[in-house]
Amino acid sequence: MPENPVRSVLEGKPFRHPLHPMLVHFPIGLFVISLVLDVASYLGRGSHALVLGALYTMCAGVAMGIVAAVPGFVDWTDIRRDHPAKGIGQWHMGLNILVLLIYGISIIARFATTNPRRTDLPLIFTSVIAICVLMVSGYLGGLMVYDDGIGVGRHRRRGRAPVRTIPLTAAGSADGWVSVPGAELMEDPQTLRLSIDGVIVALAKADGAYYAFQEFCTHRYGPLSEGCLKGGQVTCPWHGSLFDLHTGKVQHGPAKTNINVYDVRLVNGKVSIRVPSDDSINAVRRSRVAGATQERDWKTAAEPAPRPARVDRTPDTR
Ligand code: FES
Repeated sequence: MPENPVRSVLEGKPFRHPLHPMLVHFPIGLFVISLVLDVASYLGRGSHALVLGALYTMCAGVAMGIVAAVPGFVDWTDIRRDHPAKGIGQWHMGLNILVLLIYGISIIARFATTNPRRTDLPLIFTSVIAICVLMVSGYLGGLMVYDDGIGVGRHRRRGRAPVRTIPLTAAGSADGWVSVPGAELMEDPQTLRLSIDGVIVALAKADGAYYAFQEFCTHRYGPLSEGCLKGGQVTCPWHGSLFDLHTGKVQHGPAKTNINVYDVRLVNGKVSIRVPSDDSINAVRRSRVAGATQERDWKTAAEPAPRPARVDRTPDTR
Protein backbone atom coordinates (compact mmCIF):
# COMPACT_ATOMS: atom_id res chain seq x y z
CA MET A 1 0.00 0.00 0.00
CA PRO A 2 1.54 3.37 -0.99
CA GLU A 3 2.34 5.76 1.79
CA ASN A 4 -0.27 8.38 2.61
CA PRO A 5 1.20 11.68 1.31
CA VAL A 6 -0.54 13.75 3.99
CA ARG A 7 0.87 11.53 6.68
CA SER A 8 4.33 11.75 5.12
CA VAL A 9 4.21 15.55 5.25
CA LEU A 10 2.98 15.53 8.86
CA GLU A 11 5.83 13.19 9.77
CA GLY A 12 8.22 15.70 8.18
CA LYS A 13 9.59 13.34 5.51
CA PRO A 14 9.74 15.98 2.72
CA PHE A 15 11.62 18.31 5.10
CA ARG A 16 14.04 15.61 6.34
CA HIS A 17 13.10 16.72 9.86
CA PRO A 18 10.17 15.84 12.13
CA LEU A 19 7.54 18.57 12.00
CA HIS A 20 6.25 18.53 15.59
CA PRO A 21 9.52 19.61 17.29
CA MET A 22 9.88 22.42 14.74
CA LEU A 23 6.39 23.79 15.41
CA VAL A 24 6.21 23.55 19.21
CA HIS A 25 8.61 26.49 19.58
CA PHE A 26 5.95 28.86 18.29
CA PRO A 27 3.24 28.33 20.95
CA ILE A 28 5.85 28.11 23.72
CA GLY A 29 7.46 31.38 22.66
CA LEU A 30 4.13 33.14 22.14
CA PHE A 31 2.80 32.09 25.55
CA VAL A 32 5.95 33.34 27.27
CA ILE A 33 5.78 36.66 25.41
CA SER A 34 2.12 36.96 26.40
CA LEU A 35 3.02 36.50 30.07
CA VAL A 36 5.82 39.07 29.84
CA LEU A 37 3.42 41.62 28.32
CA ASP A 38 0.84 40.87 31.02
CA VAL A 39 3.37 41.39 33.79
CA ALA A 40 4.63 44.57 32.14
CA SER A 41 1.10 45.96 31.93
CA TYR A 42 0.45 45.10 35.58
CA LEU A 43 3.71 46.38 37.06
CA GLY A 44 4.04 49.47 34.86
CA ARG A 45 1.80 52.45 34.59
CA GLY A 46 -0.70 50.50 32.56
CA SER A 47 -0.94 50.27 28.80
CA HIS A 48 -3.81 49.29 26.60
CA ALA A 49 -1.30 48.26 23.91
CA LEU A 50 0.41 45.84 26.31
CA VAL A 51 -2.91 44.30 27.37
CA LEU A 52 -4.01 43.85 23.78
CA GLY A 53 -0.56 42.58 22.82
CA ALA A 54 -0.75 39.91 25.53
CA LEU A 55 -4.22 38.88 24.38
CA TYR A 56 -3.37 38.64 20.68
CA THR A 57 -0.09 36.87 21.38
CA MET A 58 -2.02 34.37 23.47
CA CYS A 59 -4.56 33.82 20.67
CA ALA A 60 -1.68 33.21 18.23
CA GLY A 61 -0.14 30.79 20.75
CA VAL A 62 -3.36 28.76 20.97
CA ALA A 63 -3.66 28.68 17.17
CA MET A 64 -0.06 27.54 16.74
CA GLY A 65 -0.52 25.02 19.56
CA ILE A 66 -3.38 23.43 17.64
CA VAL A 67 -1.27 23.41 14.45
CA ALA A 68 1.67 21.79 16.29
CA ALA A 69 -0.65 19.20 17.86
CA VAL A 70 -1.57 17.67 14.50
CA PRO A 71 1.90 16.30 13.54
CA GLY A 72 2.46 15.48 17.21
CA PHE A 73 -0.63 13.27 17.18
CA VAL A 74 0.52 11.61 13.95
CA ASP A 75 3.93 10.91 15.53
CA TRP A 76 2.16 9.42 18.55
CA THR A 77 0.10 7.04 16.39
CA ASP A 78 3.41 5.75 14.96
CA ILE A 79 4.65 4.57 18.38
CA ARG A 80 4.39 0.84 18.99
CA ARG A 81 1.46 -0.08 21.22
CA ASP A 82 3.74 -1.95 23.64
CA HIS A 83 6.34 0.80 23.72
CA PRO A 84 6.67 2.61 27.10
CA ALA A 85 6.61 5.97 25.32
CA LYS A 86 3.03 5.33 24.18
CA GLY A 87 1.78 6.06 27.71
CA ILE A 88 4.14 9.00 28.20
CA GLY A 89 2.83 10.41 24.92
CA GLN A 90 -0.73 10.21 26.25
CA TRP A 91 0.26 12.28 29.29
CA HIS A 92 2.16 14.71 27.06
CA MET A 93 -0.90 15.09 24.86
CA GLY A 94 -3.31 15.40 27.80
CA LEU A 95 -1.25 18.13 29.47
CA ASN A 96 -0.99 20.07 26.22
CA ILE A 97 -4.76 19.91 25.79
CA LEU A 98 -5.11 21.17 29.37
CA VAL A 99 -2.79 24.10 28.57
CA LEU A 100 -4.85 25.03 25.52
CA LEU A 101 -8.06 24.82 27.58
CA ILE A 102 -6.61 27.10 30.26
CA TYR A 103 -5.57 29.64 27.65
CA GLY A 104 -8.95 29.31 25.90
CA ILE A 105 -10.75 30.17 29.15
CA SER A 106 -8.31 33.01 29.79
CA ILE A 107 -8.94 34.48 26.33
CA ILE A 108 -12.71 34.42 26.88
CA ALA A 109 -12.27 36.11 30.26
CA ARG A 110 -9.96 38.76 28.74
CA PHE A 111 -12.48 39.70 26.10
CA ALA A 112 -14.95 40.28 28.92
CA THR A 113 -12.57 42.27 31.09
CA THR A 114 -13.41 45.88 32.00
CA ASN A 115 -9.88 47.07 32.71
CA PRO A 116 -8.21 47.80 29.37
CA ARG A 117 -4.91 49.17 30.76
CA ARG A 118 -3.89 46.36 33.12
CA THR A 119 -4.28 42.61 32.93
CA ASP A 120 -6.06 41.37 36.05
CA LEU A 121 -3.89 39.49 38.54
CA PRO A 122 -5.98 36.25 38.42
CA LEU A 123 -5.50 36.14 34.65
CA ILE A 124 -1.73 36.54 35.04
CA PHE A 125 -1.77 33.80 37.64
CA THR A 126 -3.69 31.60 35.18
CA SER A 127 -0.95 32.10 32.58
CA VAL A 128 1.71 31.18 35.14
CA ILE A 129 -0.13 27.92 35.89
CA ALA A 130 -0.49 27.17 32.18
CA ILE A 131 3.22 27.71 31.60
CA CYS A 132 4.08 25.45 34.55
CA VAL A 133 1.91 22.70 33.06
CA LEU A 134 3.56 23.35 29.69
CA MET A 135 6.99 22.85 31.28
CA VAL A 136 5.95 19.48 32.71
CA SER A 137 4.55 18.49 29.31
CA GLY A 138 7.77 19.66 27.63
CA TYR A 139 9.78 17.55 30.06
CA LEU A 140 7.72 14.49 29.06
CA GLY A 141 8.22 15.35 25.39
CA GLY A 142 11.97 15.53 25.97
CA LEU A 143 11.85 12.22 27.80
CA MET A 144 10.22 10.62 24.79
CA VAL A 145 12.89 11.94 22.45
CA TYR A 146 16.05 11.66 24.54
CA ASP A 147 15.18 8.60 26.61
CA ASP A 148 12.98 6.61 24.24
CA GLY A 149 14.20 7.84 20.84
CA ILE A 150 10.69 8.76 19.68
CA GLY A 151 10.68 11.01 16.64
CA VAL A 152 14.37 10.35 16.02
CA GLY A 153 15.04 9.32 12.44
CA ARG A 154 11.48 8.14 11.71
CA HIS A 155 11.03 10.92 9.18
CA ARG A 156 13.67 9.19 7.04
CA ARG A 157 11.81 5.89 6.98
CA ARG A 158 9.64 4.64 4.14
CA GLY A 159 6.62 2.66 5.38
CA ARG A 160 5.28 2.23 8.89
CA ALA A 161 7.20 1.15 11.97
CA PRO A 162 5.97 -2.03 13.73
CA VAL A 163 2.88 -1.37 15.84
CA ARG A 164 3.58 -4.09 18.41
CA THR A 165 5.95 -6.88 19.40
CA ILE A 166 4.77 -10.32 18.33
CA PRO A 167 5.56 -13.03 20.91
CA LEU A 168 6.78 -16.34 19.46
CA THR A 169 8.47 -19.42 20.83
CA ALA A 170 10.85 -22.00 19.44
CA ALA A 171 9.58 -24.57 21.95
CA GLY A 172 8.13 -27.54 20.11
CA SER A 173 10.19 -26.89 16.98
CA ALA A 174 12.57 -29.81 16.48
CA ASP A 175 14.77 -28.04 13.91
CA GLY A 176 14.76 -24.57 15.50
CA TRP A 177 12.70 -22.91 12.77
CA VAL A 178 9.96 -20.63 14.10
CA SER A 179 7.03 -19.83 11.83
CA VAL A 180 5.99 -16.16 11.78
CA PRO A 181 2.21 -15.98 11.32
CA GLY A 182 1.08 -13.46 8.71
CA ALA A 183 4.61 -12.63 7.54
CA GLU A 184 3.75 -13.75 4.02
CA LEU A 185 1.28 -10.85 3.86
CA MET A 186 3.86 -8.19 4.73
CA GLU A 187 4.05 -5.11 2.55
CA ASP A 188 7.27 -4.08 0.87
CA PRO A 189 8.92 -2.39 2.69
CA GLN A 190 7.64 -3.42 6.11
CA THR A 191 9.18 -4.64 9.34
CA LEU A 192 7.80 -6.83 12.12
CA ARG A 193 9.19 -6.83 15.63
CA LEU A 194 9.27 -10.31 17.16
CA SER A 195 10.03 -11.63 20.60
CA ILE A 196 11.26 -15.21 20.16
CA ASP A 197 11.49 -16.66 23.65
CA GLY A 198 12.36 -13.19 24.93
CA VAL A 199 14.86 -12.42 22.16
CA ILE A 200 13.86 -9.33 20.21
CA VAL A 201 14.28 -9.86 16.47
CA ALA A 202 13.37 -7.69 13.48
CA LEU A 203 11.88 -9.37 10.41
CA ALA A 204 11.95 -7.12 7.36
CA LYS A 205 10.63 -7.38 3.85
CA ALA A 206 12.33 -5.04 1.41
CA ASP A 207 12.93 -5.09 -2.33
CA GLY A 208 11.08 -8.41 -2.51
CA ALA A 209 13.33 -10.21 -0.01
CA TYR A 210 12.96 -11.16 3.64
CA TYR A 211 15.65 -10.42 6.25
CA ALA A 212 15.88 -11.26 9.95
CA PHE A 213 18.32 -9.52 12.24
CA GLN A 214 18.80 -8.45 15.83
CA GLU A 215 16.53 -5.60 16.82
CA PHE A 216 18.98 -3.52 18.81
CA CYS A 217 21.75 -1.55 17.13
CA THR A 218 25.24 -2.30 18.41
CA HIS A 219 25.97 1.40 18.90
CA ARG A 220 23.44 2.55 21.52
CA TYR A 221 20.68 -0.04 21.08
CA GLY A 222 18.56 1.95 18.63
CA PRO A 223 15.51 -0.01 17.33
CA LEU A 224 16.54 -1.34 13.92
CA SER A 225 12.97 -2.45 13.13
CA GLU A 226 12.23 1.28 12.87
CA GLY A 227 15.20 1.92 10.61
CA CYS A 228 15.29 2.66 6.90
CA LEU A 229 15.57 -0.38 4.60
CA LYS A 230 17.26 -0.02 1.24
CA GLY A 231 19.38 -2.17 -1.03
CA GLY A 232 19.68 -5.03 1.45
CA GLN A 233 20.84 -2.66 4.19
CA VAL A 234 19.25 -1.11 7.26
CA THR A 235 20.04 2.34 8.62
CA CYS A 236 19.66 2.76 12.36
CA PRO A 237 17.07 5.49 13.05
CA TRP A 238 19.03 6.97 15.94
CA HIS A 239 22.48 7.88 14.64
CA GLY A 240 22.54 6.48 11.12
CA SER A 241 24.76 3.41 11.43
CA LEU A 242 24.39 1.29 8.30
CA PHE A 243 24.36 -2.53 8.41
CA ASP A 244 24.40 -5.08 5.61
CA LEU A 245 21.43 -7.40 6.08
CA HIS A 246 23.09 -10.36 4.34
CA THR A 247 26.18 -10.43 6.53
CA GLY A 248 25.32 -8.13 9.45
CA LYS A 249 28.50 -6.15 8.78
CA VAL A 250 28.76 -2.49 9.64
CA GLN A 251 28.95 -0.45 6.43
CA HIS A 252 29.52 2.78 8.28
CA GLY A 253 29.35 3.93 11.89
CA PRO A 254 29.09 5.24 14.48
CA ALA A 255 28.52 1.54 15.28
CA LYS A 256 31.73 -0.47 15.22
CA THR A 257 30.28 -3.90 15.91
CA ASN A 258 28.33 -6.02 13.42
CA ILE A 259 24.78 -7.14 14.08
CA ASN A 260 23.55 -10.71 14.09
CA VAL A 261 21.52 -11.75 11.07
CA TYR A 262 19.36 -14.84 11.10
CA ASP A 263 18.25 -17.42 8.54
CA VAL A 264 14.85 -16.84 6.95
CA ARG A 265 13.02 -19.26 4.69
CA LEU A 266 9.80 -19.18 2.72
CA VAL A 267 8.27 -22.64 2.44
CA ASN A 268 4.76 -23.28 1.13
CA GLY A 269 4.01 -19.56 1.48
CA LYS A 270 5.00 -19.53 5.17
CA VAL A 271 7.91 -17.47 6.50
CA SER A 272 10.10 -19.00 9.22
CA ILE A 273 13.14 -17.75 11.13
CA ARG A 274 15.89 -19.69 12.82
CA VAL A 275 17.60 -18.05 15.78
CA PRO A 276 20.60 -20.13 16.93
CA SER A 277 20.24 -21.21 20.53
CA ASP A 278 23.96 -20.64 21.15
CA ASP A 279 23.84 -17.01 20.01
CA SER A 280 25.63 -15.18 22.79
CA ILE A 281 23.72 -11.91 22.41
CA ASN A 282 20.50 -13.90 22.66
CA ALA A 283 21.74 -15.44 25.88
CA VAL A 284 22.52 -12.00 27.23
CA ARG A 285 19.09 -10.72 26.27
CA ARG A 286 17.40 -13.74 27.80
CA SER A 287 19.09 -13.21 31.11
CA ARG A 288 18.53 -9.46 31.00
CA VAL A 289 14.83 -9.65 30.21
CA ALA A 290 13.94 -12.79 32.13
CA GLY A 291 10.63 -12.20 33.82
CA ALA A 292 10.37 -8.69 32.34
CA THR A 293 7.43 -7.31 30.43
CA GLN A 294 7.66 -6.30 26.80
CA GLU A 295 7.88 -2.70 27.93
CA ARG A 296 10.82 -3.41 30.15
CA ASP A 297 12.81 -5.31 27.57
CA TRP A 298 12.97 -2.18 25.44
CA LYS A 299 14.03 -0.02 28.35
CA THR A 300 16.57 -2.51 29.55
CA ALA A 301 18.13 -2.90 26.17
CA ALA A 302 18.26 0.85 25.62
CA GLU A 303 20.64 1.21 28.51
CA PRO A 304 24.35 0.77 27.94
CA ALA A 305 25.16 -2.79 28.94
CA PRO A 306 28.32 -4.81 29.34
CA ARG A 307 29.35 -6.05 25.92
CA PRO A 308 28.78 -9.80 25.51
CA ALA A 309 31.84 -11.99 25.16
CA ARG A 310 30.92 -12.76 21.55
CA VAL A 311 28.42 -10.67 19.64
CA ASP A 312 29.27 -11.22 16.01
CA ARG A 313 29.30 -14.12 13.63
CA THR A 314 31.73 -12.20 11.49
CA PRO A 315 34.81 -10.38 12.73
CA ASP A 316 34.55 -6.64 13.25
CA THR A 317 36.42 -4.98 10.43
CA ARG A 318 36.70 -1.56 12.06
S1 FES B 1 22.00 3.55 18.25
FE1 FES B 1 22.21 2.95 16.22
S2 FES B 1 23.60 4.33 15.39
FE2 FES B 1 23.45 4.92 17.45
